[in-house]
This record gives sequence, structure tokens and C-alpha cells, in this order.
Amino acid sequence: MKSSAPGKIILFGEHAVVYSRPALAAPIRQARVEAEVLDSDSPGLWLDAPLINFHGELSALPADHPISRVFSDLFQRLSLSAPPDLRVSIKSDLPVAAGLGSGAAVSVALLRALSEFLHQPLPVEQVNQMTFEIEKLYHGSPSGIDNAVIAYDMPVYFIKGKPIETFACAKPFTLVVADTGVPAPTKESVGGVRRLWLRDTNRFEALFDEIAQISTMARHFIETGRPEALGELMNQNHEFLQEMTVSSAELDALVATARKAGALGAKLSGGGRGGNMIALTNQAQAQSVAQALTSAGAVRTLITEIC
Ligand code: MEV
Repeated sequence: MKSSAPGKIILFGEHAVVYSRPALAAPIRQARVEAEVLDSDSPGLWLDAPLINFHGELSALPADHPISRVFSDLFQRLSLSAPPDLRVSIKSDLPVAAGLGSGAAVSVALLRALSEFLHQPLPVEQVNQMTFEIEKLYHGSPSGIDNAVIAYDMPVYFIKGKPIETFACAKPFTLVVADTGVPAPTKESVGGVRRLWLRDTNRFEALFDEIAQISTMARHFIETGRPEALGELMNQNHEFLQEMTVSSAELDALVATARKAGALGAKLSGGGRGGNMIALTNQAQAQSVAQALTSAGAVRTLITEIC
């Protein structure tokens, strides 16, 4: 039994979304996690997970590791008295700690493959909810946007605690995603923003309000077929993220390179302080923007069509 889950990019509103402002995110279908579950000839539960450099019996992984928790939460949910004998492999083209949702994609792909293999497939809301619980181990206090976009595998307009809304795209648009190669756990950047917010609440609340307006306008431009107008909004969103201290020299350099190479706008995407940035381009320019980003030090780029 095989199941897969996409990576994700945050288009607008990262961090502000933790403070109940709206954000937009979309799945990236070219970069996925795949989980495969097979019967095992030897007793026990065997895991092959190159992304965490783990090959062996699941019990050798700490019980509070997010991947162990996927198994234990699922077995509990399915009321299994003893873990079955299984061989599970996880393959991923998503870099870890790069803001592309690799942790949530692992949880979603595993929950689906395991529950289907055990003949008790979980509904998407339950996959989403269970992934959210596991995201807390990776991220501390996540908003829930990563698990939502990945579990539902569709673009989302997300407000914490509210029913998940998708958005319609009147016209597809092209993004170049580029990785700084600097690993940046979301937990740390979210924790950093929380400390600054506690110290200077009014200023940060005002920044989050500005970003909320950007997300709302962006949704409007996407739905009314004016994606080129997103470029300027990306630039503004990036500036607010800089003010929130979640950009970095590497991210700023790639953002500047993309703009110089003809992108309509660019910003960091996800937790920041490393990880990935995104640039809006027209289709014809995507390759040359990607090349410019590689020359400027991006360790990997991908071109993706949204919607
Ligand atoms: C991470 O992809 C997005 C953040 O806003 C964290 C979250 O929403 O949980 C930085």
C-alpha cells in the first residue's frame, strides 16, 4: 500500500497566521513524500526512512519522535492492542527544515498508507487533526496551516480555528521556489517571533494587521485573475517579515537576485531565517530566474504552477 502527500508553500501571511490573521498556502505537487507499507516476514515493525537516516526497528526510535508518534497515535485511534508486523518505507524529495512542510507531509502520507493497509482508511479531517497534533512536536505552537494544505492537497485561505476555505484561481501563475540551503527549524523562528511579540506587542500586532490586509488582497487578485499584482504584495510581505526578524542575509540576497532577474516580486516562504524563498515570474522567465538564483547560491530550485 502506497500513499503520498505534497509539500507546501506559504504564499502570504506566515507567522501572522499564528496570531489568527489569514494566510494563503498552496501544495507543491512536484515535491512529495511517499510512504509504503508492506507485510513483514520477520516479527516487529521495521522502518526505512532515509530522510531521518533511520533504518531499523521502530522501537529504536525515541517514543516522542514525531514519526514514532504517527504510529502510536494511529494504533491508539484504531484501537489495536498490539502493533502489527509491518515493513514501512518513507521516501521524500522534500528537504527537512526548509519551510516546505516535510514533517506534515511525512505524517499525512504515513497516516494514509498505514490506515489503508489496516483496512480502516481515515477521513481527511481526521488525517488533518492527527497531523496537527504531531506538528506540535515539530513546531511548538503551529497555526495548523501546514497540515491543512498538505492533508487537503489544495490551496487554502486559512484562519486559525476557523473552517478551512479553499480559493479559486481565475488564472494560474508561476513561482520559482529556491532553497538557501540553510536549515531553519520553524519551531525556532516561531519561538523567536513570540518572544519579540511579548516584548513589543503593539508593534507586532500592527505588523500582523498589515500582513492580514496583504493576504486578503492577494486572495482577491488570485480570484479575479490578476496574479501579476501579487508581485508587489510579495515584496511588501517580505519587508514586514524582515521587520519581524525572520529573514536572513541569504534569503534577502536570493529575493534581491530574483527581482533583478525579472521576477515580478519575491519573498521568503515559511518559517524563515533560512529555508526557502519564492519568486513570481511569467512562464517565459521562470527558467532564467531559477538560473540566476542558482548562480547566487540557491542549493536547489523548482518551478511550480499554482492552481
Ligand atoms: C510555517 O510554514 C508557517 C508559520 O506561520 C508557522 C505556522 O503557521 O504554524 C511560520
